[in-house]
Amino acid sequence: MLNLTKMRSLLDARQPNHALPQGCYTDPEVFAFDLAAIHERNWILAGFEVELPEPGCTLALPIGRSSVLIVRDRTGGLRGFHNTCRHRGAQLCVAGHGQRSWIICPYHQWTYDLDGRLANAPRMPETFDRTLHGLRPVPVEAVAGSIYVCLSDDPPAFDSFRDQLAPLLAPHNLANAKLAFESTLVERANWKLVMENARECYHCVVRHPELSVTFPVKGRRSVQFADVERFDGFRARMGKVGLKVGPVEGEWWQAMRFPVNDGAITLSMDGKPACTKLMCDAAQGDIGTLRWSLEPHSFAHATCDAVFMFSAMPTGPEETIVTGKWLVHKDAVEGVDYDVERLAALWTTTNLQDLDLCENNQRGVNSLGYVPGPYCEEAEPLVMRFTDWYCAEARAYLERATRDHADLDRAGGDARPAQARPRLTAVAAGGAGGS
Ligand code: FES
Ligand SMILES: [Fe+2]
Repeated sequence: MLNLTKMRSLLDARQPNHALPQGCYTDPEVFAFDLAAIHERNWILAGFEVELPEPGCTLALPIGRSSVLIVRDRTGGLRGFHNTCRHRGAQLCVAGHGQRSWIICPYHQWTYDLDGRLANAPRMPETFDRTLHGLRPVPVEAVAGSIYVCLSDDPPAFDSFRDQLAPLLAPHNLANAKLAFESTLVERANWKLVMENARECYHCVVRHPELSVTFPVKGRRSVQFADVERFDGFRARMGKVGLKVGPVEGEWWQAMRFPVNDGAITLSMDGKPACTKLMCDAAQGDIGTLRWSLEPHSFAHATCDAVFMFSAMPTGPEETIVTGKWLVHKDAVEGVDYDVERLAALWTTTNLQDLDLCENNQRGVNSLGYVPGPYCEEAEPLVMRFTDWYCAEARAYLERATRDHADLDRAGGDARPAQARPRLTAVAAGGAGGS
């Protein structure tokens, strides 16, 4: 059972607008708690529809202790499944992309159709009911070409996110894109340090000279662009070419288009498109960047020439895997319209610099002398938003677990947190059971 008492005392010890107590960044029990309370309950940006262009395409995505298998089924629809066999639980597909007519377990060859139904289970008796042993579904959603999954049977409401992101993202034509490059970094740092770092540009002027060429590193927050006059001019200019700007946001997400630095039209090493075949050619590509982000793990930028996504997945108390994906127009020819090295240069450079910063941050946080310090309100409002969101999710989970344990104790049952979310009061009040 997760150590709820320890978690509660850590949250109680946290001062408002301060970094988290040491144990939140170091403790294996907190890591286990985080997976259960955060990553297994929230929407995760998995990638893009163009990664699964035709029926039979699959994408296996590790999330904490689990793995989700996203499948393009025979009708062209997207489906999500737990990537675990219904026989003895072997993992069905290794992480990454695949193409298959059937999903065949590598262990004893139980064979599933692309809709998750168990089609064949060799040597099982005639009385065996295959219909009871299909793959367990996982909620999956698509928004203007981007894909989201959630491990919870009771995911956070998605409609508002879809409705508000879709008109911002649609002009970027993600349906006509292709995955040009993907990278993976293993960072020896707690996922929250990685995400706090990703949610601020306090460090950018000094530590990201390349990013600072095109990225407005002195911006205050995505909903409050620092240079109001410049932003108003940008908004008017975007309005003339029919592009929405936002900002829009919900509890666990934000989206906004904002201008890149003067003299640049995109986020690249020199501000010029890294791919000459544009994904969105409105205003000759001078459209700034559309940034959207999801707690707990990601941000993405859609510019005229490319889409870049960043995803941070915890793999240990002090280890996080950072995945980067770059999309370009599907007809862009490598070596002619773009060069992968140049396309990926800005975010690869930035991510490697951030890797050093996060690992160094972890070393300092591990120190006997670590005391959580105050965030800079002007430069770190999105970090505050992230940690406040984390603490609220953690507290909600604790409350739910405590209530469920009390109920189960009264019933003489096994102590196990239920899946229902407190925000769905009707369900929670009904005492919905486990998964
Ligand atoms: S575990 Fe998959 S077929 Fe046996
Ligand atoms: Fe950074």
